[in-house]
Amino acid sequence: MSKKVIITQQLPGERLIELAGLCDIEVLNRPQALADACARDELATCQGLICLLTDAIDRPLLDAMPNLEFVSSVSVGVDHIDVQALTRRHIPVGHTPGVLVDTTADAAFALLLAAARRVAEGDRFIRAGNWHPDNRWSPEFFLGKDFSGATLGIIGLGAIGQAVARRAAGFDMRVISWTPSGREVAGVDNVSLEELLLRSDFVSVHLALTSATRNLLDAGKIATMKPGAVLVNTARGGIVNERALAQALDSGHIYAAGLDVFEREPVAMDNPLLGHPRVVVVPHIGSATTLTRAKMVDIAVRNALAALQGLPMPHCVNPQVYSP
Ligand code: GLV
Repeated sequence: MSKKVIITQQLPGERLIELAGLCDIEVLNRPQALADACARDELATCQGLICLLTDAIDRPLLDAMPNLEFVSSVSVGVDHIDVQALTRRHIPVGHTPGVLVDTTADAAFALLLAAARRVAEGDRFIRAGNWHPDNRWSPEFFLGKDFSGATLGIIGLGAIGQAVARRAAGFDMRVISWTPSGREVAGVDNVSLEELLLRSDFVSVHLALTSATRNLLDAGKIATMKPGAVLVNTARGGIVNERALAQALDSGHIYAAGLDVFEREPVAMDNPLLGHPRVVVVPHIGSATTLTRAKMVDIAVRNALAALQGLPMPHCVNPQVYSP
């Protein structure tokens, strides 16, 4: 009998055709569909799950899937998945590293530049009809921050952090980093997190969200940042304390922020960060280019194909499940 694979949302491209040759596919295609399916016991007969970062693959869901053999997420981050619970059941979890590195680093740089040079604020200023002959240009009109000669602190020197460091070199920035792995990278000085926050004119966050990194930049840490610094987060919302960041922006301690990710997504309209003119926001689109999303789907399907054929996934976050 053919195995059943649930895909939580229609994925772009033709790769699913290959999967269809090996299993029965059901595409749920509605937000909340997984929770509904869970309630309907529809998941009980399913062996494979291809999900997105918006799908909470938690205990109640996993308990409803006794026949589950693999999970393949179309994301590099897996904080939406209870990997420990899956590992205990010897179920491999696939993700999509590598292919989104440059695209996400570009997004971080776009936010750094937009926040430092007040791009979104300037855009709103013109569209609101505020640009008049009497304020057409002046030496102190819409001043921002220079990149050249400034210090960029990269928190997390994995592949994306390193790609951000390469871009910063092209902007003549000094690059320092704090990374839990202690990884050494040419042209980047490793320092403690405390020193990084103290010295950096710009800080960009590139860590996975784990119990160790949740709320890492809390009120105490943000208070130690260099006055006038710019903070950008394209990693995960829970790493930066939003309330503390909003207060630091209000007090002027932090100059500006660029945020692609939020503690809760979609972000609530009454989130104080949205009310701050120097906060540039985008809706979790760090990896959102046509090419990169196609590559992510490609890897997710390859992970699923391998699992269906009883082979190790090429990109597995818990490879220990393959040890005897
Ligand atoms: C994006 O945030 C991802 O984890 O792929």
